[in-house]
Amino acid sequence: MLIRIVRTQHSTKTNILSRAAESALAHRAASQVISALWNGEPALSFEVIKDALGKPRVNIDCDGTQSACPISWAHAYPYALAAGIRNESMDIGADIERVRRFRREVITAFLTDRECAHVLEREEATRAYHTTLTWSIKEAILKSIGLGLRLNPRRIDVTEALTLPNYHIGFAYVDNIRVPLQIWKHRTADSHFVAAAVAIHRNYTYTLRNGFFLERSLGSAPGCALGYRPDGRPPFGEHL
Ligand SMILES: CC(C)(COP(=O)(O)OP(=O)(O)OC[C@H]1O[C@@H](n2cnc3c(N)ncnc32)[C@H](O)[C@@H]1OP(=O)(O)O)[C@@H](O)C(=O)NCCC(=O)NCCS
Repeated sequence: MLIRIVRTQHSTKTNILSRAAESALAHRAASQVISALWNGEPALSFEVIKDALGKPRVNIDCDGTQSACPISWAHAYPYALAAGIRNESMDIGADIERVRRFRREVITAFLTDRECAHVLEREEATRAYHTTLTWSIKEAILKSIGLGLRLNPRRIDVTEALTLPNYHIGFAYVDNIRVPLQIWKHRTADSHFVAAAVAIHRNYTYTLRNGFFLERSLGSAPGCALGYRPDGRPPFGEHL
């Protein structure tokens, strides 16, 4: 898993860049990731493709060899982050967030009971950081799965991943099923932002079927079917 954070030199009064400018910054980080993954080899073609739910992937042609590269990016002014992996059997998700205080009812609405307990045990002074980090890892997983917030964040538990050293393999739980992942997390030099990236083996993630139905294959472990409701209501799940 390879990660790049870039920072814009452009300053705005509102601390907001246009969505297009943020995306352009993220694309810059993404092309640096791709270039590093391919050891700077010049690409004959390089194309970003998004699936129906907005999850990006890069198709790259170097020396006539076509490869698909799982990639993910996120932006939060003035930073953008991209993470990629040269392994088509992995899924990847990345997120960057401004460290902020969350009200208790917000924390309990999107963190699992285990995560809440972990965060609420932290000292008051570092609680905002720990809460934002928990959210960021969770969002990275939601992006690697490809559903984003269509999947209720409380269905994912990242408590064990919170204390893992970078690039170590650990576990998250999706619907209480253990999912191995590689993790990276970082606090920016100004300490105002946290960034997280995860790589998950594709066999352990959800795959989209017929536009609406999702199926998780976990090798010989019991699977789970999920229905994604296009009207925005939470997905429904059924253990097989
Ligand atoms: C994907 C999502 C988590 C991104 O969160 P965000 O804080 O808005 O934005 P971030 O900076 O973290 O990430 C943005 C990038 O996520 C990527 N992305 C978008 N949809 C994605 C998906 N389904 N899976 C993985 N990545 C996705 C895109 O590359 C996007 O960047 P781009 O628009 O510049 O290409 C969020 O937009 C989402 O869940 N969307 C789908 C559900 C939805 O629209 N809900 C309405 C509000 S609840």
